[in-house]
Amino acid sequence: ATEAEEKDLVIIGGGVAGYVAAIKAGQAGLKVACIEKRGTLGGTCLNVGCIPSKSLLNNSHLYHQILHDTKNRGIDVEGVKLNLEQMMKAKDTSVAGLTKGVEFLFKKNNVEYIKGTGAFADEHTIAVNLIDGGETSVRGKNIIIATGSEATPFPGLNIDEKKVVTSTGAIAMTKVPKKMVVIGGGIIGLEMGSVWSRLGAEVTVVEFLGQIGGPGMDAEISKAIQKTLQKQGMKFKLNTKVMSGDDSGESVKIAVEAAKGGKEETLDADVVLVAIGRRPYTAGLGLENIGLETDNRGRLVIDQEYRTKLPHIRVIGDCTFGPMLAHKAEEEAVAAIEYITKNYGHVNYGAIPSVMYTHPEVAWVGQNEAELKEAGIKYKVGSFPFTANSRAKTNLDTEGMVKFLCDAETDRILGIHIMGPNAGEMIAEGTLALEYGASAEDVARTCHAHPTLAEAFKEAAMATYDKAVHY
Ligand code: FAD
Ligand code: NAI
Repeated sequence: ATEAEEKDLVIIGGGVAGYVAAIKAGQAGLKVACIEKRGTLGGTCLNVGCIPSKSLLNNSHLYHQILHDTKNRGIDVEGVKLNLEQMMKAKDTSVAGLTKGVEFLFKKNNVEYIKGTGAFADEHTIAVNLIDGGETSVRGKNIIIATGSEATPFPGLNIDEKKVVTSTGAIAMTKVPKKMVVIGGGIIGLEMGSVWSRLGAEVTVVEFLGQIGGPGMDAEISKAIQKTLQKQGMKFKLNTKVMSGDDSGESVKIAVEAAKGGKEETLDADVVLVAIGRRPYTAGLGLENIGLETDNRGRLVIDQEYRTKLPHIRVIGDCTFGPMLAHKAEEEAVAAIEYITKNYGHVNYGAIPSVMYTHPEVAWVGQNEAELKEAGIKYKVGSFPFTANSRAKTNLDTEGMVKFLCDAETDRILGIHIMGPNAGEMIAEGTLALEYGASAEDVARTCHAHPTLAEAFKEAAMATYDKAVHY
C-alpha cells in the first residue's frame, strides 16, 4: 500500500475473524487490505490453536487406542512405538497446508495482504511496521479490529514455553514429560492434558471450581466425562486453588490448597501447563491515539453492529464480547461485512455450539440445567445413553449420552448436551434444530438412518415426551 491509497476496508489481524472478513469483503467487491504480524495467516486457530491441537488429539487417540483397545477387536499389534517428532511433523504439515490455503484465498478474492504490525496513527490511518523491515501506512474508509486473544498468565510463574507452558508450548513439546500439572480444568486443560496423558505423561489437573469443562458445560455431562478421563489415567484436584509456583529448579513446584482454605500440598512437575483462560489482545494497537477504550476485562466495547464509538471502526472475534471460539469469530466476520455492504447482518448468540475434542467428545448448544434453573425456566429432560445405541455398540465405543432440555409447556428445545463419539459432528443437527426453533418432537419424528450414532440423538428427543424405543 502507498500512503495516498485509501481502501474501502482495512482489517487488523489475519485470524479467523480477520481473514474471513477479508475474503467476504473481497467477494463483495470492496478494496480491502488485511494486516497480520505473525508471518502466516489464520491466527491463533490455524497456527497454534484449533488445528494443531486437533491434529495431536486425533493422532494421540489413535496411538492410545492401538496400545489399549485392539486385542478385543481381533487385532494383534506388536512393537507399537511413539515417534513424537513425526507426530509433530504431521501437525505442522496440516497447519502449513491450511495457512497457505488462506493466502491463496486472499489472492483469489483480491485481498491485499500486508505482513506487519498495525497501529492507529489517526482514526482512518493505520501505520504498519513491516515484518521485512520498513514502514508503510494504509487508510481505510472502514476499519475492522480483529486482533484476537492471548493466554492469561499465572502470577508468579514465568512462561518460558518449555517448563512452564501455555497451549502454544503444549502443542510443540519435543519429549513426553513424566509429570505434568495442568492449572485450569477448562477446554484447553482437558484437551492438551488428554494428548500428553495418552502419550504417557502422568497428568494432574488442578481446577478451582467443583467441576471441569469450563463455562457452559452441563454438570451431569461434566461429571461423566471426568469419570471417563480418570479411567484413561488423568488425575483431578477440584475445588483446589493454586497458591504459588516455583520454577527456579529443574522441576516446577506448585503449591495448592483447598479453595475454601485448608489442606496445603506441593505438586512436582516437569512441565506445568497454564490454562486458566484467555484475554483479549490489543497491545500496541495505538487505541489511545484515537480515544478507544477497553472494558475491565480488556474487551473492546461495541454496539449490536460491532461498531465502536467511532462508527467506521468495528471489532469482531476474541478481542471483543462473547465466547472465544473460531466459529463465533467467523459468524461475526460475515455479519460485519454485511453491515458494511448491505446495512444488515445477524448472529444468533443463543445458538453457538461448543465442542471439546477429548475422547469421547463433549458438545453442547443452548442452555444447561443450571442456567435454566437460574433463569426460573420450567424444563423437561430426555436423555439416551450410547450403551443402548447399536452403532456405538458395534464400534465398542459406548461411553456417554445425549441429553435434550426442552420447555416444559411448549417442548421447544432449549439446550442439547452430548458426550459421545463424534459429539462434535452430531451437535450440528442440534444447532440447526435450535436455530429453527424446533421442538424435541420435531427431531424425534425426523427419520434417522440406521445404524448410526445419530439415532441416539433422535431417541433422546423422543424421551422428552414419550419413552425411547431402545432404552
Ligand atoms: P486470533 O485467531 O487470535 O487472530 C488474531 C490475529 O491478529 C493474530 O494472528 C495476531 O498475530 C494478529 N494481530 C494482533 N495484533 C496485531 C496487530 N497490531 N497488527 C497485525 N496483526 C495483529 N476455537 C474453536 O472454535 N475450536 C477449537 O477447537 C479451538 N481450539 C483452540 C485450541 C487452542 C489451544 C487455543 C489457544 C484456542 C482454540 N480455539 C478454538 C479458540 C480460537 O483459536 C479463537 O477463538 C480464534 O482464533 C479467534 O479468532 P480471532 O481472529 O478473533 O483471533
Ligand atoms: P476456560 O475458560 O475454558 O477454562 C479455564 C478454567 O481454569 C476454568 O475452569 C477456571 O475455573 C479455571 N481456573 C481459573 N483460574 C484458576 C486458578 N487460579 N486455579 C485453578 N483453576 C483456575 O479457558 P481455557 O481452557 O484456558 O481456554 C481458553 C479459551 O480457548 C476457551 O474459552 C475456549 O473458548 C477456547 N478454546 C476452545 C477450544 C474448543 O472449542 N475445543 C479448545 C481450546 C480452547
